[in-house]
Amino acid sequence: MTAARALRAIDLYSGIGGWSLGLRLAGIEVVASYERWGPANETNFKNNHHLAQTVDIRRLSFADLPDGIDIVVGSPPCTQFSLSNRGGNGDLEEGLEDIITFLRVVDHLKPKVWAMENVPRVAPIITKELQNGGRLHRFSHLGVHTHILNMEEFGLPQRRRRCVAGNFDIDLLRDYGSRLGCSTLGEVVTALSQDTVCDPLYGLSIPKAQLVDHVPEVALNPEELRINRASKTAHPVYNAMPFPDRMERAVRTITATCTRVSRESIVIAPLEAPQSTRRLTIRERASLQGFPITFQFYGATYSQKLKMIGNAIPPAFTYLMGHVFRGTGAAALPPLSRHAEQLHAPDPPPVLTPPDRPGSQYPPNRSFRFAIQSLQLKSGVRFELRNRSVGGWTNWSVNFYFGTPKNIIALQMDEDLRIHLSKVLPSSLRRRVDALLAQVSTYIGEADIENMQRVWTHKGVGGTRPFMLLDELDRTGQRMVELLQSEPEIAGAVIDAAIAVRFGDERPVVGLAKLGRNAPIIAAGLFIGSSANTMLQACQAGAAGRSAKTLSC
Ligand SMILES: C[S@@+](CC[C@H](N)C(=O)[O-])C[C@H]1O[C@@H](n2cnc3c(N)ncnc32)[C@H](O)[C@@H]1O
Repeated sequence: MTAARALRAIDLYSGIGGWSLGLRLAGIEVVASYERWGPANETNFKNNHHLAQTVDIRRLSFADLPDGIDIVVGSPPCTQFSLSNRGGNGDLEEGLEDIITFLRVVDHLKPKVWAMENVPRVAPIITKELQNGGRLHRFSHLGVHTHILNMEEFGLPQRRRRCVAGNFDIDLLRDYGSRLGCSTLGEVVTALSQDTVCDPLYGLSIPKAQLVDHVPEVALNPEELRINRASKTAHPVYNAMPFPDRMERAVRTITATCTRVSRESIVIAPLEAPQSTRRLTIRERASLQGFPITFQFYGATYSQKLKMIGNAIPPAFTYLMGHVFRGTGAAALPPLSRHAEQLHAPDPPPVLTPPDRPGSQYPPNRSFRFAIQSLQLKSGVRFELRNRSVGGWTNWSVNFYFGTPKNIIALQMDEDLRIHLSKVLPSSLRRRVDALLAQVSTYIGEADIENMQRVWTHKGVGGTRPFMLLDELDRTGQRMVELLQSEPEIAGAVIDAAIAVRFGDERPVVGLAKLGRNAPIIAAGLFIGSSANTMLQACQAGAAGRSAKTLSC
């Protein structure tokens, strides 16, 4: 009796081979993979030992594809569909082009089974385009079903949601998922910190000294912590998220970029050193993405390695897909640890790429734009301190935005507005408001506004950091809101006056009701913003005058 031959697969848009590895461990022969990015292909080839072709798939001729293919898998690029691309306004036509290319290959090879991964946003687009007259309608005979899957439900320590489309047995896949346990960020970080590192998913062990790309970076400095915390816990538009990231649950989506201060960056306070808040190492990100600890990333730079890992499909998930393709019953599914012996680090190892360091170069026009927390409503209504650099000169001001995310309205605040608003107040309240505003004016008058940008760009010394001014505005904001909360009707009249002064007969049609419902906060912001801007303008005009005098001397 001849042994059944292994199923044969190809991997399109294969990146570093997340599909290829999982399928290989599931006993499927990955005959070839296709990818145009050289370093990704090198990574795939060195780890998976199969033909990884560097090609533009859009130009691939059907004649160059292998025969006898049972399975087609792949992950066409998601860039155009991703919400992080131009706020979700990527070029959908361009993105569809790669999905069409993928489906054309499926249509040509007629495999028994196929699967295509992308971001969740693609699911409704595919469904719509499959309909009569749609751009994918001609592929409807391929049995296209779309599923939104969360990797966390398949044993991964990551809450990564992805659309997986295809004609595979989704019930069997879900059956596997229901039998797998949950794993957490903390388990991965702890496992990788031991002297003998036991892979949290694959069970193999290696001495810590052999763990590559696991260099914990310098802890975030106070400024980076502040920016990180603000963007996560007090974002004026997006939902609040925990900071630092919670260790006792699966991690948020591992993305393709991660600066030291961005909202999407995952920041941890490790149990063994809770004071040293830091980003994850490349190795931690790889394990959270379901790669074995022996897998090596042949990127030339730290950011190339981040990109490879963030773009990949987790092989611990594609392993399950491989078994779905083979039809392995859930009770017979071998655990990943059964394959530990097949996992060896390729030789030679990749180049070392240490993480970037704090205080790297900031441009002279480094942007500062943070909401004053006590004066902030959700959905984008906010008073913010920001800088604007024009022609080598930076101006600081407090700005007010309201309206809707699609129709953001700015209301200019200055001395003229403050005088108008002041007239709305009865004299006893006016005295108390003026006393608080005097504190803001005094603070700004004594602050070193002239050098604030220099301090912010780490280019020199100065007496005032912008966050110090932001905190002062926040403190006064709290007191002013408390004061006006006892006079909500007067606060409402202040808002009416501001709208009348700034917009006259051209009153905005959106956002006013929300201002009215939060009148004490908005009125407080209008007073503080107008006073602060008056004083900031005076300081900046003085500084500009001094600088002009120096030039003329
Ligand atoms: C989402 S990633 C695929 C990730 C892959 N599944 C993995 O596990 O690493 C999409 C990949 O498509 C590649 N790509 C984009 N356009 C391509 C094209 N026209 N031809 C070949 N590869 C392309 C990108 O370089 C990228 O690596």
